[in-house]
Amino acid sequence: MSTTNPPTGHRPDAPVPRDPTVPRDPSVSRGLYAIETPQQPHSAPAGRIRVHHLRECKERGQRISAVTCYDATFARLVDAAGIEVVLVGDSLGNVVQGQETTLPVTVDHIVYHTAAVARGLQHAHLVADMPFMSYRNVDVALQSAGRMLAEGGAHAVKLEGGSEVAPIVQALVSAGIPVMGHIGLTPQSVHAMGGHRVQGRGHAARQRLLDAARDLQEAGCYAIVLEAIPADLAAEVTALLEIPTIGIGAGAECDGQILVLYDLLGMNPGFTPKFLKRYADLGSVIGDALRGYRGEVQTGVFPAPEHAYRDPTPVERKRHSGG
Ligand code: KIV
Repeated sequence: MSTTNPPTGHRPDAPVPRDPTVPRDPSVSRGLYAIETPQQPHSAPAGRIRVHHLRECKERGQRISAVTCYDATFARLVDAAGIEVVLVGDSLGNVVQGQETTLPVTVDHIVYHTAAVARGLQHAHLVADMPFMSYRNVDVALQSAGRMLAEGGAHAVKLEGGSEVAPIVQALVSAGIPVMGHIGLTPQSVHAMGGHRVQGRGHAARQRLLDAARDLQEAGCYAIVLEAIPADLAAEVTALLEIPTIGIGAGAECDGQILVLYDLLGMNPGFTPKFLKRYADLGSVIGDALRGYRGEVQTGVFPAPEHAYRDPTPVERKRHSGG
């Protein structure tokens, strides 16, 4: 089984890859504040990753990598790295807004960040999280999810909950909105769960989770996030379902994994749950860079002459004007 290759397989409907020698958009490739779009590494997928590609990944035994993302700058980096699924999670309440829970996050917040992320992505499948109370009934759910696709540019939505949300999933799917489920630890229910605790422990809880997974698949979910459940239960759910499972704190047998971007990059040093692996120590890198900048501002080393503008000399002016 390959765990590194993204789903570059047969995609008759996938867009033709862009010719990297042709600038994407002349208006952003020139000018004072031009943004250089990073080159796609060889491993990056060629076209847009769609719902059916994720199912194909499961069938091929090809693991899916997913991360959260909240802005266009990180979205460009995530996309260039070939990450298949990007979630604008309501975890933005914690890591962007500094809230204690995800409950204060609104549909407006998610739509705003989804639109920003969408501008940075060319390949990854973009999922917008349905915040607390935004899917409390079918009408509200259709309105919230519709905005995420129409205004945010999401390709799908994710919502938390088990068998009880199956009718909502069904209504969204019937309206043409792909839905990712989310079971196990569901942070929007933090108060009902009595805190952020591992779920699915014990026979009854285990059975409830298996039933929920089956019900969500039947209702039309195209994938399900399994959060903070025992690894053997996640393996059982993964084997039971035809749709892919994406784990966070759910062991190695899920069809894919998701982590909060800032956590995996080490930007949140105080957050040390058992399931988290850090792939960088950006907290230290950023701290060093900022201290270096501050020191150079204080000592006058920055800005140096090469960072300052000046009038061109007559010779330079002539050369620029082609004379
Ligand atoms: O909001 C979020 O970031 C999530 C993921 C951790 C699955 O729901």
